[in-house]
This record gives sequence, C-alpha cells and structure tokens, in this order.
Amino acid sequence: MEPLLWRVLPMLALLVSFILFFYFQDSHLSPLTKLAGDGCSLLPHRHYWITSKRIVTPQGIISGSVEINEGKIVSITEGYGKQGNSKQEVVIDYGEAVIMPGLIDVHVHLDEPGRTEWEGFVTGTRAAAAGGVTTVVDMPLNNHPTTVSQETLQLKLEAAENELHVDVGFWGGLVPENALNTSILEGLLSAGVLGLKSFMCPSGINDFPMTTIDHIKEGLSVLAKYRRPLLVHAEIQQDSKNNLELKGNDDPRVYSTYLNTRPPSWEEAAIKELVDVTKDTIHGGPLEGAHVHIVHLSDSSVSLDLIKEAKLRGDSISVETCSHYLAFSSEEIPDGDTRFKCSPPIRDAFNKEKLWEAVLEGHIDLLTSDHSPTVPELKLLKEGDFLKAWGGISSLQFDLPVTWSYGKKHGLTLEQLSLLWSQKPATLAGIASKGAIVVGNHADIVVWHPELEFELNDDYPVFLKHPNLSAYMGRRLSGKVLDTFVRGNLVFKDGKHAPAACGVPILAK
Ligand SMILES: *[C@@H]1O[C@H](CO)[C@@H](O)[C@H](O)[C@H]1NC(C)=O
Ligand SMILES: *[C@@H]1O[C@H](CO)[C@@H](O)[C@H](O)[C@H]1NC(C)=O
Ligand SMILES: [Zn+2]
Repeated sequence: MEPLLWRVLPMLALLVSFILFFYFQDSHLSPLTKLAGDGCSLLPHRHYWITSKRIVTPQGIISGSVEINEGKIVSITEGYGKQGNSKQEVVIDYGEAVIMPGLIDVHVHLDEPGRTEWEGFVTGTRAAAAGGVTTVVDMPLNNHPTTVSQETLQLKLEAAENELHVDVGFWGGLVPENALNTSILEGLLSAGVLGLKSFMCPSGINDFPMTTIDHIKEGLSVLAKYRRPLLVHAEIQQDSKNNLELKGNDDPRVYSTYLNTRPPSWEEAAIKELVDVTKDTIHGGPLEGAHVHIVHLSDSSVSLDLIKEAKLRGDSISVETCSHYLAFSSEEIPDGDTRFKCSPPIRDAFNKEKLWEAVLEGHIDLLTSDHSPTVPELKLLKEGDFLKAWGGISSLQFDLPVTWSYGKKHGLTLEQLSLLWSQKPATLAGIASKGAIVVGNHADIVVWHPELEFELNDDYPVFLKHPNLSAYMGRRLSGKVLDTFVRGNLVFKDGKHAPAACGVPILAK
C-alpha cells in the first residue's frame, strides 16, 4: 500500500470511531433529539396541547389543557377549551376522558437477557405502553445472568438497546457475594441501578441466592451513601410441613394446599427482623440515608401492623402491595388454576378487605404488578399442581383497569390512583421529572376512560408474550386506555403502537 494511505488510515479509523461514539451516546442520552419522523411517535408534532375536562394534577382534578413541547410539560392551563393562542396550534381534545400521569410500575420482571422466552423487553414494554404504564423498573432476576454486578447490568443495557417502547429503570440484586464485597456493590450502584433488591427466602432462581439479615445490614450501609432504597422480598421460611399435616389436605391441585405452605407467619418473621434494623434509619441513626421498601406485602394483619409501628417511630420504610392481592381472594381460585400462583400467596377475602383499607388510609405507599411471567410449560402444568407450578402473575398491561375496577368499589379516587401508581413509585425509585403532571416534568401521560368497560377475552389485544397465562383473562374490567405518551411521543393510540422503540434506560447518577 502507499505510505500516505498508511498514515491516513489510522486517522480515518479514529474519526469513524468518534462519530460512532457520539452517535450512540446521543441515541442513549438525548432521545428528545429523535424526531417524530423516526417513528418514535404516532403524532408528527413536537409542540402541541392536550385538553380534557378531567386532568389529574397534584392540586386535584382540573378541567383544562396541558401544553407539551420537546417531550416536556411546558404549561398547564385551567379552563376546558381555553388552550393556545391561535387557531394554527395543534390541540388534541380528549373531552370527558381522563388525562393522568403515566403509571410507573417499579416491580416488573422482563426476563431479558437469558429468559427472553418468558417475556423480554419488546413484548413487556409494548404491553406496558398499551396499559398506560410509561415507566417500568425491571427486577434483577429472572433474567440470566442475574443483575448483581456492573458487568451484568451492562449485559442488560445492551440487550435493551432499541427494544424499549417505554422508559425502563433497573434494580440491582443484593446477594451474599456482593453484600460481602463492597467493591462489587459500589460498581453496580455507580453503573446506575436505582437501588437493590434482595430475598429473605429462596428466590426460585439458582443464581440469585437469598440474603440473611446480616447481608442486608451490609447492603444498607452502602446504600445509605447513595441514598437509594433496598427492596426486600420479606418472607422467612418457617416450618410449614406441620401446617400441611394439620390441615390434613395435601391435594396439590387445591389452592389451599399451597396457601398453607406459606402462612402469614413467614412475612411476619421477615418484617420483624427488618424493622429491628430500620430503627437505625431514623434521623441521626447509624443507618441514616438508608431506606427499606417491602415488596408485595400480602399479609394485612400483624405484618402490616409492624410496618405501621416502624413508620410511626420515624423509620425510613415503605411498603407496596400488588394488584392481584387487591383483586383476588383465595376462596375464588379454582382447583388446578395455577395462573393464580404467586408468592407470598393470595390470601382470603377478609385479608383482601383489610389490604384495601390500608391502601385507602395511606398505610400502603404504592402499588405494583410484580409482573412475573414464564413459559406455559412451567406455569400451566397438565396436572394443575400448585406446588410445582411457577409462582408469578402476569399482569403488566392491566395495572390501571384492574386497580380501578376493584378500587372504585372501595371508594378509590382518581387522585389516590395516581398517587399510588405514579407519584409514590417515582419517589421510591428516585426518578426525578416523572410521576406527576407539573410544569417541567416529562410528558409521560396516559389518557383513559374510567367508565368504558371491556372484557379480557381472546379477541382483546394483549401484547404480553403469553397472553393466556394471565390470571386476569376472562375478567370484565372498566377503565380503557386510549392513548399513551412517553416524553411527548405518542407511543400508543387506539390499539396501535408507534413503530420505533424510543424508550430510554433510566440510570441513577
Ligand atoms: C471483590 O470482588 C472483586 C471483583 O470480583 C475481586 O477482584 C476482589 O478480590 C473481591 N474482594 C474480596 C475481598 O473478596
Ligand atoms: C395459549 O395460547 C397459545 C397460543 O397463543 C396456545 O397454543 C395454547 O394452547 C393456549 N393455552 C391455553 C391453556 O389456552
Ligand atoms: Zn417480583
């Protein structure tokens, strides 16, 4: 080759890598520069108004309009039909439909990479968009490998590239290995996980071992510095064999057989140990800055009382329950219908009513789906064996209509719904600029019709990977999602998605 070419080639290579570097940087960090022409939005405009008679804001429900420009909410005007200054402007009139902050579901298992056949980023986030969920926070399992280090988070981020139809944040895993090795944990936190998740009982996934209270203390002391939460699966295995024998009913096709293997005492035991640690999170305490969040509380009895006491004392502790604990009760679960299996289990109707009470009185901070699907072969066993079937309920697309359908019977208001599904989850995950319709926030919005009813039958467009594994199929629900906006992009409208996946990975700084 010519000597000149030899000299030019390395420079050319350098130039190309610079261009590529900035191109990818840009597509990661500045989604707002993507134009509607890219297929990110079903709306060709970046500057427009949406108007309706019911807009849910932190100050209450108003009639008026929201101005959106370059992905953000730039003004909110009271008075229906008063938006804008000239007739040239783009106004979408939603009339009686409700304009609400998009839901933020902070407990979702998208299972990618490694178990994409269980769900995956594409189907999971398309289902989220169709359900008005504009942000999902993905759990560190059941993907494989589990997200327990900087390197495994990187694998997840690579898998997510060009697959996200809504914004997605990530929890890391706290497991014995990294709990005892601060440099791994700090690496994971520095790489941007929004907090950590751990199990006080076997997780069901081999590469996600359970943690003891001592591991949890170690994790909390690191998390305190980052001011990020620890999410805990709060169940400690007690001797449940006796329980089975006492009931004298061990037919694994009968739901109560499974229910009896995981009594409320498991949750109680774990929460007792946790609140003994969270007392140190009070202002001025040795763990100040740390926060414990109890995921999927099912027991509304002693477990809930322990959490209430800890809150009264000033501990930094919060708790979620899931839509299925509020929708279903153990009495109604048919024999062999393993779609309803999850852990902790769905308990009786009395327990459910007490959970609703706690939700409405504000003792339960927020709601999640714990969307945790698998493949039909592991979920719908021919023999209908509740003890062998995969535990996890598939529900991500139905967060809004399920909570609303069952909640309105208990007097749930639109403001409470929005607090439980948007504002509080944003606070837990430390996601600024989301979770409420206020000026300056991302235009993450769901437009829906609380009064519209529909039946989740085979004709209903469900975008999850395995629609018929969901325990909600066959139910009649009210609250139909019309349109969903993520950062001003109209990502879902009238049953259709925007062609491009322009959701953004949310990383903590
Ligand atoms: C912590 O983990 C890192 C990375 O795997 C390893 O290099 C280091 O030796 C570990 N430290 C201890 C004390 O085990
Ligand atoms: C679920 O749906 C799949 C196809 O989408 C079908 O093959 C399977 O038989 C269905 N299972 C049940 C239990 O309906
Ligand atoms: Zn879960």
